Amino acid sequence: MASVSQLTAGRPAPAAPRPAAGAATALASSHALELRGVSRRFGALRAIDDVSLQVAAGERRAILGANGAGKTTLFNAITGDFPPTDGQVLFFGEDVTELPPYERIRRGLRRTYQSSLLFGQLTVRDNLFLAVRGIGRNRYALRRASASHSSRIATEELLDRVRLSHIADTPVSSLAHGQQRQLEIGMALAGAPRLILFDEPAAGLAPGERHELVALLRALPRHMGFVLIEHDLDIALRVVEQVTVMHNGRVLKSGPPEAIENDAEVQAIYMGSDLG
Ligand SMILES: Nc1ncnc2c1ncn2[C@@H]1O[C@H](COP(=O)(O)OP(=O)(O)O)[C@@H](O)[C@H]1O
Ligand SMILES: [Mg+2]
Repeated sequence: MASVSQLTAGRPAPAAPRPAAGAATALASSHALELRGVSRRFGALRAIDDVSLQVAAGERRAILGANGAGKTTLFNAITGDFPPTDGQVLFFGEDVTELPPYERIRRGLRRTYQSSLLFGQLTVRDNLFLAVRGIGRNRYALRRASASHSSRIATEELLDRVRLSHIADTPVSSLAHGQQRQLEIGMALAGAPRLILFDEPAAGLAPGERHELVALLRALPRHMGFVLIEHDLDIALRVVEQVTVMHNGRVLKSGPPEAIENDAEVQAIYMGSDLG
């Protein structure tokens, strides 16, 4: 596998002229997210290849696919961490393809990562407080009492939402794996997210922890859509209303969970069979 350090996150110059950034903004879209022919190459490798999909506002969508199918790369293209080499990303109708990640965050896009990005020495509460302050307008006015007060209220609400109030004062380094995953979700919920991308939040969890995670995701506010990368078909099918299956960097199939579950091609992939 190529080393990440050999590659730059910069976006190569597009091969074809692209419409001006504001051009698509005028076209109203009811979709939270729309990908139009999105590709990301790493050297000769097409990690994702001509992916088009739409996620409605408030929709809960799972992305399934084997290791290396391109799921995380798809998230990186959406958030701008590794921008697409081709195609367009629209967020609530606005073309954000050229925007840096923080501008997408400002517009209400959030994500979690496959590997943890928590502050291990700080408590659960302090991690959440930092997330709240990082998002808030007054993040540089640390000494303003009123701003601090509303941040503290928001922090307590988040603690409650991700069911970690009982261990709010515990340092993150001594949390169980599942509790860390819950906290990461809490961090992504800070501010006013309009769409959250969860990258395999259930990976490596014990059965009881998975149960807790499923309950947490199901209890998120209905207006807050999310896209969930999940390896375990059973978990995905309990949490979402639409499923997209990726294979070799492309969309193999999209549909409601029942249809995907009973699809012969999808079953073949999950059984590890050759698709031919
Ligand atoms: N930063 C990178 N540099 C080089 N290759 C990468 C990079 N990120 C992903 N890839 C490659 O792209 C393909 C898809 O990877 P990824 O999106 O991580 O898959 P998934 O999340 O579905 O397991 C893999 O072949 C992977 O090795
Ligand atoms: Mg991945």
